[in-house]
Amino acid sequence: MKTLALDINEESLSLAKKFIEQGETVAFPTETVYGLGANAFDENAVKKIFAAKGRPSDNPLIVHIADASLIENIAAEVSSDAKKIISSLMPGPITVVLNKQKCIPDCVTGGLPTVAVRMPSSPEAQTFLRAVNLPVCAPSANTSSRPSPTSWVHVAEDLDGKIPLILKGADCNIGIESTVLDLTRDVPLILRPGMITKSEIERVLCKKVFYPDKTDKTMNSPGIRYKHYAPNCETYLNVDGNTESITEFLRQNPAAGVVARDCYQNLADKFFSLGKDAYSGAQQVFAKLREAEKVCDRIIIVWDLKGEEADSVLNRVLKSCGGKIV
Ligand code: TXA
Ligand code: MG
Repeated sequence: MKTLALDINEESLSLAKKFIEQGETVAFPTETVYGLGANAFDENAVKKIFAAKGRPSDNPLIVHIADASLIENIAAEVSSDAKKIISSLMPGPITVVLNKQKCIPDCVTGGLPTVAVRMPSSPEAQTFLRAVNLPVCAPSANTSSRPSPTSWVHVAEDLDGKIPLILKGADCNIGIESTVLDLTRDVPLILRPGMITKSEIERVLCKKVFYPDKTDKTMNSPGIRYKHYAPNCETYLNVDGNTESITEFLRQNPAAGVVARDCYQNLADKFFSLGKDAYSGAQQVFAKLREAEKVCDRIIIVWDLKGEEADSVLNRVLKSCGGKIV
């Protein structure tokens, strides 16, 4: 298949609309990561997403909408907690899991009775969703298990020849995927941490919010089971910034690249900057892993920042390295 990569304008948006209506997939930018979208009501189109990504079919997708009023067509009930999240934090980098309407096919939700809904804030994503005028289910637009795509170039690296259209927008501002908040349980549960933090959600809901009990398998998001965000070379993680252990690792692996904040710049020639703080770290982490894998046979990530936003980045890099801590 030939993959078109087009700037976002009236012409490319009407082509995107045509592809989505015809049951094809289209990659589009959001503020978190690029998504690979299809008509959420069209089972065959949804299956094409799983095929292009090589994604396990029991890992459910997020349904994207441009306007809050559309939630009623997707979710069976919108609880008062859901209403608070929608009015205070959406559009933005948060996804809510609600009980689903029957019209949402099982292949979107991996057979679950619930559905994940997100309203992206990026003007480019909004323009795309409004042009298409349908709920668009979309995972990140990368090959399954690879670092998520934060630029259209990353989408092309993974999916060229497998999808008909990439809408070329700006690089993603946030850089890691949305916070996934399950509102179908007795208590609100954060299934995936993101840049909208637990304290921010607790402030909006005026109640305690929890992380899943890792030993209770029924409480986890299906996506948690799979390998994620892995570069195509051996990757390690240092979480305490202890320069002795990092230097020792580099002595044993002299060709390794270092992906870290600017203060670690002097540690290696092959250095890939995560900027200064948790925000720049989130924005850059997947791009830097993709840059590093091209020129390094090994990678060491240093991520020693503390705090809620930093912990969301830690959640991603722990998966990138498959738990290999140095
Ligand atoms: O920022 C984002 O959320 C991006 C952009 C494209 O919007 N999308 C994204 O999709 O990250 P994906 O497919 O890579 O991750 C979706 C996550 C998975 O961890 C999945 O298991 C979880 O959401 N999820 C989806 N539906 C669910 C449901 N009904 N119940 C529990 N978890 C669900
Ligand atoms: Mg993903």
